[in-house]
Amino acid sequence: MTNAALIVAAGRGERLGAGLPKQYLPLGDRVMLRHSVDRFLDHPDIDHVQVVISPGDEPHYLNCCGDLDLPAMALGGSTRQASVRHGLDALAAKAPKNVLIHDAARPFPPASMITRIIDALKTSEAVIPALPVVDSLKRGDGFTIDDDVDRDGIFRAQTPQAFRYSAIQAAHQQASSADFTDDASLFRNNGNRVAMVEGSEDAFKITNHDDLLRARRMLIEDKEIRTGQGFDVHRFGDGSEVVLCGVKIAHTRGLIGHSDADVAMHALTDALLGAIGAGDIGQHFPPSDGRWRGEPSSTFLTHAGDLINKRSGRILNLDLTIICEEPKIAPHRDVMRNCLAEILSISQDRISVKATTSEGLGFTGRGEGIAAQAIATVEISVAS
Ligand code: CTP
Ligand code: MG
Repeated sequence: MTNAALIVAAGRGERLGAGLPKQYLPLGDRVMLRHSVDRFLDHPDIDHVQVVISPGDEPHYLNCCGDLDLPAMALGGSTRQASVRHGLDALAAKAPKNVLIHDAARPFPPASMITRIIDALKTSEAVIPALPVVDSLKRGDGFTIDDDVDRDGIFRAQTPQAFRYSAIQAAHQQASSADFTDDASLFRNNGNRVAMVEGSEDAFKITNHDDLLRARRMLIEDKEIRTGQGFDVHRFGDGSEVVLCGVKIAHTRGLIGHSDADVAMHALTDALLGAIGAGDIGQHFPPSDGRWRGEPSSTFLTHAGDLINKRSGRILNLDLTIICEEPKIAPHRDVMRNCLAEILSISQDRISVKATTSEGLGFTGRGEGIAAQAIATVEISVAS
């Protein structure tokens, strides 16, 4: 294994004083810790993510990360340094080449910054992201200035701080019990050299209430709303049932198609793909590819939903209209909505299934086939 991420989340968040350790507070659609974890899970150069939590916080942790395939969490100590040491011990069996140690309280480390750090590890044993100080610096007691401090050459250290695993492991084992506030200072205290790369304002740490508001504002500004539309037609042929929105409906005819010919789900899939500019269903699942013969269309819809998730997005609304004279859709409407909601893991009230005849006109009116059209409204991250 090459690069492991170690996310320390065992603090109490006393300065924020939210009644709940800050890493478990909601930020947009997920809690703070989950944002941090997702940033590393989504990074192509990170092979393993280990989280450290405080004993007693298991229910909070399972609530936000229980659905992930992560190794058992490590238990932290009373200081950040102790928590990191326990986390490093938990990684021993994996023996990663490098470890990136990160504060759960920094939920938005940009992927480009993580890449920068990993690149720098090729030539350095220890690398941290840092930003220059831009404000003038004063020494004082909060009421009177005693001295001006030259800000030249002063940097703010952020995380993830990255090290050769064996070197930081040894440094932590040898370190005194003095509480180093970051791993770079502990590592340097052991006589080692630490390199710097450019950090990011987005990697700020949430310490007090203003930071929490900043994070929430950032998430709102990061989102944009997109709309996509989809349309599909399938011709009737021999058969005794049709599949619409995953629901089998007995009918005097069946629908012809390469997959299960679920015309409604195909329109929905195209609407979702359209909302994120991701082509159309035929591009992702070519009819020429024998793999998709008889495939349940839930495979296609799940794929479109996954692509939205990858853009840190979510589905706000799906509006579907099925156009046919027969079969009657209304009796199946709620089962269909339920089926779609399950496939996409969204609430049923975000899905509308409507139906209309075409008053006997056109190919649907003559009972030659079924048409479906859909509109999807999604919210995605601008940054992704
Ligand atoms: N941390 C930890 N174990 C500790 C203390 C801190 O894992 N004993 C983690 C925190 O969860 C956080 C990171 O180290 O992700 C940075 O610490 P800090 O911002 O100080 O968080 P808290 O200690 O939780 O906050 P406070 O100091 O206000 O209590
Ligand atoms: Mg602290």
